[in-house]
Parts: sequence; C-alpha cells; structure tokens
Amino acid sequence: MTPAEFAARLAAYQARVEQALEARLPLPSEVPGRLHQAMRYSALGGGKRIRPALVYAVGELYAAPLEALDAAAAAVEMIHVYSLVHDDLPAMDDDDLRRGRPTCHRQFDEATAILAGDALQVLAFESLANAPAGAEARVAMMSALATGSGTQGMAGGQAIDLAAVGRNLDEHEVEAMHVRKTGALIETSVRLPALLAGAGAEDLTRLDRFSRALGLAFQIVDDLLDVEGDPALLGKAVGADRARHKPTYPAAVGVERARERALELEGEALAAIRGFGDRASMLARLAGYIVERRS
Ligand code: IPE
Ligand code: IPE
Ligand code: MG
Ligand code: MG
Ligand code: MG
Repeated sequence: MTPAEFAARLAAYQARVEQALEARLPLPSEVPGRLHQAMRYSALGGGKRIRPALVYAVGELYAAPLEALDAAAAAVEMIHVYSLVHDDLPAMDDDDLRRGRPTCHRQFDEATAILAGDALQVLAFESLANAPAGAEARVAMMSALATGSGTQGMAGGQAIDLAAVGRNLDEHEVEAMHVRKTGALIETSVRLPALLAGAGAEDLTRLDRFSRALGLAFQIVDDLLDVEGDPALLGKAVGADRARHKPTYPAAVGVERARERALELEGEALAAIRGFGDRASMLARLAGYIVERRS
C-alpha cells in the first residue's frame, strides 16, 4: 500500500464515521438545543478518528458489513469525545484548546460540557444496541465497550492519572496507567469489529496483542507530542503536562527512552498481526501512523 493509498483510505474512513456520527447525534433544533449543540460541536468536524479507523480496518479483515461497523465506529468515537470533553474540564486537565478550537466548557459552559459528555457516553451504547447485528453480537460489543470505558479502562486510568499528579511514577506504573486511560479504548476499537465478525480464538489473541501494544504506544506518543510537538498541528496546547506536573512517560523515563519504547511497541504490534498477511496491510499502516504522527 503506497502512502497515497493509505491517506485515501484513512480519509474515506474519516468521512464515513463523520456521517455515522451525524446520523446518530440529536439535532440542534430539538430540545434541549444547547446540549445538542455542545455534543455536535465536540463530536463533529475534527480529530484524527483513529479509533473508528481501527474499527473499519479490522472489519475489513473479515469483510464485515459496513453498516454494522458504522455503529461500532460511531460508538468508540463518542466515548472518546466524551472522554476528551471531561478530560479538558477545569477539575481535570483544565485546557482551553481542543482540535484547534475552544474546549467544550470554554465554548459553552462547564455544566453543559459535563452533560454533553454524559449524553455522548450513553449515545455510544445506544448506537451499539441498535446496530444491525444479532442480539448476541450486540450484547458482546456493549459489554466490551463498558469494560474499555469503565474503571478497568478509561475512567479508571483517568482516576490513576489524577491521583498521580505531582508524584513520580516509575516506568511500570506509568505503563499500567496508560494501558487503562488510553489503551483500553484502543483495544475495544479493535475488539468490537472482531466480535461483530465472529472472529475465532486465535485471531482474537493476535488482535488483542496488537491493540495492547498499539494502545500503550498511542499514549506514549501523545506524551511525547506534548513535549516536542507543534501546537499548530496538534490543535491543543503543548507543555501542559509538565506545567501541571502530570504523570507522563517522558517524565518517568526521559524522552529518549520514551521514543525507543514507542518504536519497540510498534514492532510488537506489527509482529502480532503478521500472520494475517496482506489482509492486514491497512492495520499495519495505521500502527505506523500512530507512532510516527505529528498531530
Ligand atoms: C487524544 O486522542 C487523547 C488521548 C487519548 C491520548 P487523539 O490524539 O486520538 O485525539 P483526536 O481524536 O485526534 O482529537
Ligand atoms: C487523555 O490523556 C486520555 C483520555 C482518556 C482523554 P491526555 O490528557 O494526555 O490527553 P490530551 O493530551 O489532553 O489530549
Ligand atoms: Mg488528561
Ligand atoms: Mg488532557
Ligand atoms: Mg496528552
């Protein structure tokens, strides 16, 4: 797959999930309009859409029906957006800029941002409940999304993050935090389409190894970009982690080791899916993009 082919495929996935979100988000003309506006403001028209791209790329391994993948792609992005809206609140990271625009609580107000996150979270589960798939697959996907979002996943990781502000974590501790706060939803994004497609045990093991390595690498790169990224490309502030004494991978082990660890994890992720051969070329390219991205 050439770089141009990869870019075109990613753009197609991004356009597809934009449509899937648009179709599921409540209209701003419906009551309560301000809440609906805040949900749409945060969810539409921005972000790299990495998690939906993983849903579609894994779905393609099995030629899964695109309409059912849309429900899963929209669901993981809704959970992600909700996590960003809450992550940016004054009580958490207190950030003003997200995806190149004012954060939700800046554009609207704190109470609206809290409610927008709440409503996006439940809309994600509604999307899966209504997916065009058998009841068993829908329940399995909802259960996996709950695990990835809850105390064993994103919310738990965020709690560990906040409790560790100002403390020095070692490499092992920071990995355990990152695996939950960011890794878990990446793992879920890979798992949902596999569940939908009825993937066998061997495939699930491969995909779990892939997504675990990739999810950790994703947050290490996010931490590195906060140190050395370009705010114009990122659409969010840089240097904020250090200023707020956040527990990050570079803070724990230094920038050099963090870069080395991200590359090591990319290698682990690629090795895990080698057995799929050419069918997984898009997944492999996504792994490279996640580690080498500048935004
Ligand atoms: C940023 O995620 C927050 C983390 C979980 C590290 P992304 O880098 O995927 O943000 P968007 O969706 O592209 O804005
Ligand atoms: C966020 O991590 C992880 C989430 C679950 C939202 P960060 O706090 O590092 O994400 P950014 O840097 O604000 O996007
Ligand atoms: Mg945070
Ligand atoms: Mg943050
Ligand atoms: Mg960050």
